[in-house]
Amino acid sequence: MDESALRQQLAMLGASLFQRGYSVGTAGNISVRLPDGYLMTPTNSCLGRIDPARISKLGPDWSHIGGDKPSKEVFMHRAVLTARPDAGAVVHLHSTHATAIGCLAAPGETAPIPPLTPYFVMRVGRTLPVIRYYRPGDAAMEADIHAAAKDAKAVLLANHGPVVSGRTLEDAVHAAEELEEAARLALLLRGAGARELTPAQVDDLLATFG
Ligand code: 13P
Repeated sequence: MDESALRQQLAMLGASLFQRGYSVGTAGNISVRLPDGYLMTPTNSCLGRIDPARISKLGPDWSHIGGDKPSKEVFMHRAVLTARPDAGAVVHLHSTHATAIGCLAAPGETAPIPPLTPYFVMRVGRTLPVIRYYRPGDAAMEADIHAAAKDAKAVLLANHGPVVSGRTLEDAVHAAEELEEAARLALLLRGAGARELTPAQVDDLLATFG
């Protein structure tokens, strides 16, 4: 997909996430890897109303080279996209249920959401490392996220929200949606003794679809 099509797709998927309540106000940001740099949603923009022409463009060295001023979370996106060379995009949300899990889980935990359903395992994987709280935009989060993202498609920022990567932008959005649904199920079933997928079932899913 060329840059112009990716800009259109980013605006379309941002609007879709916003319209379905995965993001409110100006929460959340999205980045996409390009052959000559990165696209990133502008800071303080609403995912529901992204203008494709005003999306920030960063060069290969992550310097701002076009469009509006980029998200304050450039360090978060850089951490994941440099840790995961196969990832083409990163979606950060404050989606309610995933964020709630991020308020309950202890930093350092690696599986705060149990494997209840196949699609969570298939899209997000076996681990979801919980990163300790950092102020939004704090450059200090980069090293922690970078280290955790090497072995995980997604990480969960304590008291903040999920950061999800994908091979393509569409993959990252789908994984972020599955993560939110899995978090909702986990909270709904908390303490109810729900049956989890067995380690063998998780292995089978990852061997088949991973
Ligand atoms: P930006 O508006 O700078 O992208 O920040 C929003 C956000 O989600 C902070 O975590």
